[in-house]
Amino acid sequence: MSGPLPGGRLPHGEDKARRVRGMFDAIAGRYDLVNRVMTLGMDVGWRRRAVRELRLPGGALVADLACGTGDLCRELAAAGYRARGFDFSLGMLERARTDAPLVQADVLALPLADGAVDGVTCGFALRNVASLEELFAELRRVVRPGGRIALLDASTPENRALRAGHGVYFGRIVPLVGGALSDRDAYRYLPRSLAYLPPGPELVAMLGTAGFDDVERFALTGGAAQLLTGTRG
Ligand SMILES: C[S@@+](CC[C@H](N)C(=O)[O-])C[C@H]1O[C@@H](n2cnc3c(N)ncnc32)[C@H](O)[C@@H]1O
Repeated sequence: MSGPLPGGRLPHGEDKARRVRGMFDAIAGRYDLVNRVMTLGMDVGWRRRAVRELRLPGGALVADLACGTGDLCRELAAAGYRARGFDFSLGMLERARTDAPLVQADVLALPLADGAVDGVTCGFALRNVASLEELFAELRRVVRPGGRIALLDASTPENRALRAGHGVYFGRIVPLVGGALSDRDAYRYLPRSLAYLPPGPELVAMLGTAGFDDVERFALTGGAAQLLTGTRG
C-alpha cells in the first residue's frame, strides 16, 4: 500500500513522507467535502482566524505551506495578501480552487530565498511532516525578520469531558464518515496521526528555540484545533 499504515506503528522519516504524499494524492478528490462534514464546517472559521492573526500590512507576501486544495490561499487573498501555495501532493494541487500561484514542493526544502516572504500560514500539516524541527528551521529561513507565522492543526481538548467527547467523535465517527465518503485507511490514520504532535507548550517552546518571538498558542473550539502564531526574530 502507498498510504500510511492503518494499524500498528506510525511511519517516520522518508517512509512517512512517501506514504503521506500517496495518501493525499488518493483522497484529494473528496478532501474538501470530507473536511467540511467532519469538522461540521468549523474548519472555515479556524482558517479565517489564522489569517486574521497574521496582522501583516495589505499586499504582504504570504507563503501557504502544505496548501492542499487552496483553502488558506483563498482566505489570504480575501484578506488582501499576496498568497503563494506550496504542497508536495500533485493530486491536491490539481484540485486546488485558488488564483494563487501554486508550486509542487516539499515544505522542508522550499524553493524560496532567505527572508523571501512576509509571512507563512500552514493548515493541518504539522502532524504530516517528517520533522517539525526541520519545518520550523525552514520557516525561520524563509520569513523576513519581523514577519509573522500562523500555524493551524488539530488538537485534543484539555477539559476532561470535552476530551472524552472529542475522543469518541475523532476516534470513531470521523473514520466512519471518512471511510463512507472517501478512503477508510486514510481516515483511520487521521486520529492516530495526532500522536505525532508534541503537547502545546512544547510546540510553543520549539518555535521559540527556532527563532520566533511572542509565540502564542490559541485553543480553538474548546481545543479541537490549535493555532500557533509568532514573529520572526
Ligand atoms: C490535511 S492537508 C491540509 C491542506 C490545507 N492546508 C488545508 O488547510 O486544508 C495536509 C497537506 O499537507 C501536505 N504535506 C504534508 N507534508 C508535506 C511536505 N513535507 N511538503 C509539502 N506538502 C506536504 C499534503 O500533501 C496535504 O496536502
